[in-house]
Amino acid sequence: MRILLVASAFNSLTQRVYTELRERGHRVGVELALGDDSLRGRVAEFEPELILAPMLTTAIPEDIWTAYPVLIVHPGPKGDRGPSSLDWAIHEGAWSWGVTVLQAVAEMDAGPIWATEPFAVAACGKSELYRNEVADAAVRAVLTAVRRYASGTFEPEPLDYTRPDVRGRLRPYHDQTQRRIDWTADDTATVLRKLRAADSQPGVLDELFGREYFVHGGHPEDRLRGVPGAVLATRDGAICRATVDGAVWLPQLRSRRTPGGPPTYKLPATLALGSDLPAVPEAPVTPTEAAGRDTWSELRYREENEVGYLEFAFPGGAMSTAQCRRLLAAYRHACTRPVEVLVLGPGRDFFSNGIHLNVIEAAADPAAESWHNINAMNDLVEAILTTTDKLVVAALAGNAAAGGVMLALAADEVWCRESVVLNPHYRLMGLHGSEYWTYTLPRRVGAAEAERLTREALPVGARAAAQLGLVDRALPGDAEQFWSRVRRDAENLAATMELADRLIIKKQRRAADEAERPLSAYRASELAHMRRNFSEPGEPYPELRRDFVHKVRPATTPQHLTVI
Ligand code: COA
Repeated sequence: MRILLVASAFNSLTQRVYTELRERGHRVGVELALGDDSLRGRVAEFEPELILAPMLTTAIPEDIWTAYPVLIVHPGPKGDRGPSSLDWAIHEGAWSWGVTVLQAVAEMDAGPIWATEPFAVAACGKSELYRNEVADAAVRAVLTAVRRYASGTFEPEPLDYTRPDVRGRLRPYHDQTQRRIDWTADDTATVLRKLRAADSQPGVLDELFGREYFVHGGHPEDRLRGVPGAVLATRDGAICRATVDGAVWLPQLRSRRTPGGPPTYKLPATLALGSDLPAVPEAPVTPTEAAGRDTWSELRYREENEVGYLEFAFPGGAMSTAQCRRLLAAYRHACTRPVEVLVLGPGRDFFSNGIHLNVIEAAADPAAESWHNINAMNDLVEAILTTTDKLVVAALAGNAAAGGVMLALAADEVWCRESVVLNPHYRLMGLHGSEYWTYTLPRRVGAAEAERLTREALPVGARAAAQLGLVDRALPGDAEQFWSRVRRDAENLAATMELADRLIIKKQRRAADEAERPLSAYRASELAHMRRNFSEPGEPYPELRRDFVHKVRPATTPQHLTVI
């Protein structure tokens, strides 16, 4: 079928729907909803049999939905309507929620229902839920709706609030008055619910040291206690704030924009507070300690049945210079452990999206900070590439992009959850790219495919990535099922007789590769390009980075998306 995806942004869910439909042989176009006239023009040119809106925050013009079938993905169960569905679900502590595909009509979210899928609400932030349970349910619902539409016989169900299975309702925008935290009254569970309902957008508006900030993220703390509302400690850029019955960690803050002032964006909390932060103690935790505690840490390390697991989780998958260095230190420590299989990756969300563009943007000298950041990333990748006494597995339960994909490719094996979307390219940020990708990517997929992937700059679904050889496996199931399979297979690897042989072959191959062209040569040549990208006048990177960090919407649908 010719299917046109219309979306407010080519975001994770839209990318996922795009890859899933293409894998099933549909011809899929993408148009960003940037104005009714440009949408009309694209629809006329594309002549879709079906229009699908995986993530749309504006209405489709009536002349389009009367002339074409338009199906909208709504992140709520049957009958739920309004712009803040997930926010309300998390805020009210719903344990089960749904995604519904409905036809566009004049009234928002009130059209006939083509498919609906339930999902269990995990205890996490809204965006994480969106990229995991919501995305999985949405893809199931979209595929069902597309099949039903293609059958030509399916009659969508009109929205009827008298039906017993229609439990949702119309709800208003979830604004800051409902989100506000009362630090002198709200218990930890309430604070976490409010933070999670607002994470990652818009954050909870709050006051710290006499200034207003949007607070992003929220994790419980098991030990630190103090006067409710007081900032008790810092850890790796996050701050810990006391509640009436405990404390929570707040990793990121965004200043409130002053009228007429420059746009603001999320930063590690201590960086955002700067000199306003009084002297509070740093409360360090080692990755091994963190694995056994209910506290916030970006790094956790544990061993089970002869396998080491180094878990990392960075908000938005972005890795600053400091975060890369901390992960490298944890990796080096893991390398000293008596295990021969090492698994790297976060529990559920983004694996990595490369260097931290927000921290770079905030730096006094962004070109210099870009340089430090890419070198810190390269040091980490190099450490993985040169580990010859262990088999390293990158386990991707969530998406990865740019240098984050190349970080995964440094491992011996890359195992992906089937739902993962990879963006193995740098071009959209105006970068040549580093992280030794000129060594690892062609080695995996061949030079021609590496050239195509980096030039086309399109997302690749996990199954397609496995077919290309970009990754080794695409494993089905949700994040929990993925990890139980990863654990089982990693333990089997650790127990096999062949492991010793594999490690010998690995060592020989690395030595042969090094003799042919040393890693330092790949690094030097990539970094020569990157230095130009970062610093030379006329390079697009500074402006593309600024637009990304400030969330500037493009004026038109980017050209690489209009090719089908
Ligand atoms: N630096 C800083 N923040 C980043 C980031 C990065 N490299 N990559 C993602 N983020 C942030 C986003 O700003 C967003 O923040 P928000 O939650 O406050 O809105 C969040 O992480 C999730 O990203 P988003 O873009 O909303 O997710 P998506 O699934 O729609 O798109 C990407 C994912 C990876 C395609 C997109 O984020 C991207 O292009 N990132 C930049 C990749 C890159 O060029 N890295 C640098 C070169 S190595």
